[in-house]
Amino acid sequence: MKQEFFICPRCRARLERVAPDRLTCPQDGLDFWNVDGIWRFLLPDGQAHYSRFMADYEAVRGFEGRGSPQADYYRALPFRDLSGKFSADWAIRARSYNLLVREVLTRLQGRLQRPLKILDLGAGNGWLSNRLAAQGDRVVAVDLLVNEQDGLGAWKHYEQQFTPVQAEFDHLPVMDRFADAVIFNASFHYSESYGKTLQEALRVLDPAGQIVILDSPVYRRRESGEEMVEERKSDFLSRYGFASDALESENFLTYQRIRGLGESLGVRWRCIHPNYGLRWQLRPLIAWLRGRREPAKFHVIVGAR
Ligand SMILES: C[S@@+](CC[C@H](N)C(=O)[O-])C[C@H]1O[C@@H](n2cnc3c(N)ncnc32)[C@H](O)[C@@H]1O
Repeated sequence: MKQEFFICPRCRARLERVAPDRLTCPQDGLDFWNVDGIWRFLLPDGQAHYSRFMADYEAVRGFEGRGSPQADYYRALPFRDLSGKFSADWAIRARSYNLLVREVLTRLQGRLQRPLKILDLGAGNGWLSNRLAAQGDRVVAVDLLVNEQDGLGAWKHYEQQFTPVQAEFDHLPVMDRFADAVIFNASFHYSESYGKTLQEALRVLDPAGQIVILDSPVYRRRESGEEMVEERKSDFLSRYGFASDALESENFLTYQRIRGLGESLGVRWRCIHPNYGLRWQLRPLIAWLRGRREPAKFHVIVGAR
């Protein structure tokens, strides 16, 4: 894939290719390298800001036993978890993925009558990028993590080609209006400022394009989200000895917050409700009967200008 869409994440100048694995910013002289098949666009201050998050996250995912040495494991996601460790979670992920393809991307492609240009932001091991590339779309997978088990380094396991890029949500090395779709798959709630992250997503989005947020927890009441965050912190502390709270992530959404972001940024939202089955539907009622906090809901949230 040609990389003519890259810009400097600091000054936004168009980059010059000085070698197959090296791009240079003509304005501020920064070099950006492709190392092990991944373009490295994390600026030194970003590296410093995210280093503890990355170390904690990798440690937790390692403890959880995420990833596999087998390529088949990655290729089967999200429909089968060949490790058998998180099968119930992946069954849910598969449903939201199907909805994303059927209700959002296929329609967008039908309207544009061509393959889509897609940014998969917070791509993790890149399974979504692989699936979308298999449909003929041109996909850029962005994440902070480059390890081979759970980060962009897993690109080696896939049969499809996409472009793995180490960068952060709020400083994308991508030119204005590049993407037809910007997708945050189980990643938006890691943002430290939803406003800033959406503004950057809107910058790289084509005027007719769509932003999709899926598999991020949504609550009716802010207090429910705050309780979930506290529960998770003490769970991590007791299990791993650290709270994994290096970032000031927003961690969850509320319906009011979604509406407010839309109003302030000029984004119209459409909320699609995946059917996760009866047990899932009954969760709020069961929680209420047992006097527990409101459980999170997971929607496919689609934004357009
Ligand atoms: C729960 S994982 C989801 C991975 C993948 N999208 C999936 O569906 O399996 C969230 C990912 O978001 C990434 N992430 C968090 N904050 C980020 C940021 N500011 N910029 C880029 N990636 C980020 C994390 O490194 C992590 O890989």
